[in-house]
Amino acid sequence: MNREGVGKVALVTGGASGIGRDTAFAFARDGAAVVVADADVAGGAETVRLIETRYDAQALFIEVDVTDAASVEAMVRSTVERFGALDMAFNNAGVPDRAASLHVSTQENWDRVMAVNLEGVWHCMKAELDHMLTAGKGAIVNNASRSGLVGVPSDGVYGAAKHGVVGLTKAAAIEFAARGIRVNAVCPGLVETALTRARFGDELSARAKLANPLGRMAQPEEIANAVVWLCSDAASFVVGVALPVDGGATAR
Ligand SMILES: NC(=O)c1ccc[n+]([C@@H]2O[C@H](COP(=O)([O-])OP(=O)(O)OC[C@H]3O[C@@H](n4cnc5c(N)ncnc54)[C@H](O)[C@@H]3O)[C@@H](O)[C@H]2O)c1
Repeated sequence: MNREGVGKVALVTGGASGIGRDTAFAFARDGAAVVVADADVAGGAETVRLIETRYDAQALFIEVDVTDAASVEAMVRSTVERFGALDMAFNNAGVPDRAASLHVSTQENWDRVMAVNLEGVWHCMKAELDHMLTAGKGAIVNNASRSGLVGVPSDGVYGAAKHGVVGLTKAAAIEFAARGIRVNAVCPGLVETALTRARFGDELSARAKLANPLGRMAQPEEIANAVVWLCSDAASFVVGVALPVDGGATAR
């Protein structure tokens, strides 16, 4: 198997859990050195332990709060200090929208969802681009959502943040393509993670059957595979896409 990640350094925010953890595994399987960054120290340390146990790859946990620009800058600085480079970044940390509908959503809910899911991605892109522009190369993938492409009932605030992530992705892709940096986004449909369990509880399996033409949720690894491909040289001509990985949900 061609391990294209060998000699490269990947950073995954939200790497303590769900899609981020499986993407950290996928980068490690591909041979990259992986930085797992998260606010959840125990979960992040566990991802690193699992990488070291399962894969022949280096891994480091960095505690970060993506809502805090200084914390994010320190994350990128520590990555480069430890591994000497930052080639690939997956800006994935996110929180669910606790409100049932935008008309009953609170200011607190809006502030939290926007701070983590939109502003957090902007902080990460700023710090990563600072390094990648100097290096003259790099690949960034942001985690948006199906709710970043279409209107999803009950996802008003979350969907506004995720549409914002798609906007940031496209603008940065155009601005920095000629300087050697590819920026893209993935737009997952329903994925079986702690976030969806917290959001939908007992309704989850019923929702999954109706969510897309496949009639099931994605496993986190199915999103991870798309992220690793978007970061790889196999996707060298792919710039500024918001790629649905949603079992066909947005095709109908
Ligand atoms: N699960 C889905 O169905 C689905 C669908 C579309 C998009 N997404 C997006 O995928 C991403 C990952 O979601 P998941 O389902 O794997 O959820 P998850 O809850 O399993 O993982 C999210 C991770 O982000 C971390 N995090 C939260 N706030 C943070 C902060 N301020 N700073 C640093 N880390 C923070 C959490 O600690 C957690 O480890 C999110 O951006 C989410 O919006 C998920």
